Parts: sequence; structure tokens; C-alpha cells
Amino acid sequence: MIFNQQQSLHKELSRYRALQKTIGFVPTMGALHTGHLSLVEKALSQNGIVVVSIFVNPTQFNNASDLQKYPRSLDQDVKLLQTLNGVVLIYAPKPSDLYGKQVISKHYDFGGLENPMEGKFRKGHFDGVGTVLNLLFRAIRPDKAYFGEKDFQQLQVVRKLVQLEKLPVEIVGCPISREPHGLAMSSRNNRLSDTQFEEAGLIYQTLKEVQYKFDQYSVTKLKDWVQKQFSKNAHLELEYFEIAIAKTLKPAVRKRSGNTYRAFIAVFAGEVRLIDNMALN
Ligand code: PAJ
Repeated sequence: MIFNQQQSLHKELSRYRALQKTIGFVPTMGALHTGHLSLVEKALSQNGIVVVSIFVNPTQFNNASDLQKYPRSLDQDVKLLQTLNGVVLIYAPKPSDLYGKQVISKHYDFGGLENPMEGKFRKGHFDGVGTVLNLLFRAIRPDKAYFGEKDFQQLQVVRKLVQLEKLPVEIVGCPISREPHGLAMSSRNNRLSDTQFEEAGLIYQTLKEVQYKFDQYSVTKLKDWVQKQFSKNAHLELEYFEIAIAKTLKPAVRKRSGNTYRAFIAVFAGEVRLIDNMALN
């Protein structure tokens, strides 16, 4: 069932609440792929019903052309969700239904989680993500909400948002779904040429190699090595590669025992920006 307005969604949700069904929530920007569906399946396995929001959130795009070219395929998305077993309600609002008249972000202090990597290269991005999720959480009031580790920094920011806004929701992190050659699934992959798609397998190969080398090499050596791998490839341009402490996302300079590290990467294939990350220890 598809809803464009909070009012009708609220009505439907209150029916399920009265039946003591728990509500799982999967926020998305649509152009759904297997990665999104894995989140919805997990949510269905843990809840009475699941709400999937499909909303390309203008306030989290720092680049007008990226927003304009973001793939939109609502009919296809609805069909995909209808293939799943269980009750899925789709909320696909217009900006005004969520934001009211002014489609603007609130400013958040996520305790530093918002500053490196995606925060550094996409100014204001996490304010936009925090703002829309705060509005969505208040509209849907889910028991649990599901987020992919594909956007690991976003997952950490969302955990902080829930604390800051005192939202009664449990955040569940879900593993990254990948293509057979390792590229993380993404709505943006639709925009890659066949060659770019094949070449983008280098992102995963590089992360795997860094994971393998992590014990033996310093952070600086690993960063240099990654730079070199991408400088040799004519189809891909490295935007950043960072090794950071998983919990705080503070970039690592030197490895310290007891810390859990993760590698983070952003790469351009032509105009298409791809991100990925991997646990290192
Ligand atoms: P979107 O990019 O559509 O992603 C929706 C959810 O799917 C996110 O939690 C994301 O991490 C997850 N996801 C995407 N690709 C995945 C993959 N390959 N494997 C596992 N999970 C994957 O992230 C957003 O939308 C937006 O920022 C949003 C949270 C909806 C706020 O606007």
C-alpha cells in the first residue's frame, strides 16, 4: 500500500499499533536494489509490519546536478517491494508533506562524527540526513529502524541523532550487499557505463587488500599504496581514502592496540560518486 501523506499513513499505522504489531522502518531514496531489499527483509523478519519511505531528500545533496540526476523509479520500486512476503507500507511523500513550507536543514552537532570523510567532502550533508530522519522518525514512530553499513558514517550519525533527539527507536545496522565482482550495490550504479561498472570492482579489491595488509603496514604506507592503485586507473578517480576508528570515526594516524579500525573510500567514476568501507581488525 502506498501513502503520499502522513495523515493517511498515521491512520493505517494506528490500526496496526492497536493490534500490538511492532513497526520496522527502512528509510530510502528509492531506485531500490538488492541491498535495500535485504534491509526490508530483515525488518520484516523482526516486526509485525514494515514502513519503507521513498524520498529523495533535497537537503542532503550538496551538488544540484547529483540531486537532479539521482535515479527515480517509483513504479518499479513498488513492484519490487510487492514481491516480498509480509506487510510493507510505502511512504512516498512530496517535500511539503515532511518539511512543511520551508525545505531546509536544522543544524546538528553530532560530536565530531559529521566532520571527516563524507562530512568533509559533502558540506551540510549530515545536517540534511539528520533533519529528514528526525522528521521521518516523528512521522512513523517505528520500534526499530534499519540502516546499511554501506553508509557506515551515516549509521553512526543516526545512532547519535537518536540520542540527541531522544527518539524511542532501536537502530539496527545491516551488512553491505555487493555485486559478484565486489562493488557495493548502490542506486548510483545505474548511471555507470559497462566499463566503469567493471573497473569499479577495484574499490572492493583495494579494500580487501588493505584489510589483508593492515597488520603489517603503517597507516601512511597503506594510504600511499591506495593512492597508487587508483592513479594507475584511467576510469576511476580517488576522492579520499581514510582509515578511521570505527566508533568515533576519527582518522587514524598511528595504529593503537584495542582500537577497532575501518577503511573508508570515495571514488569518482566519471561524474558518478561511489563510496564503500570495510572493517580492518
Ligand atoms: P539510500 O542511499 O537509498 O539508502 C537507504 C538505505 O539502504 C541506507 O541505510 C543505506 O545504507 C542502505 N544501503 C544502500 N546500499 C546498500 C548496500 N549495498 N548494502 C546494504 N545496505 C545498503 O541512505 C539513504 O538512502 C539516505 O541518506 C536516507 C537514510 C534515506 C535519508 O535520506
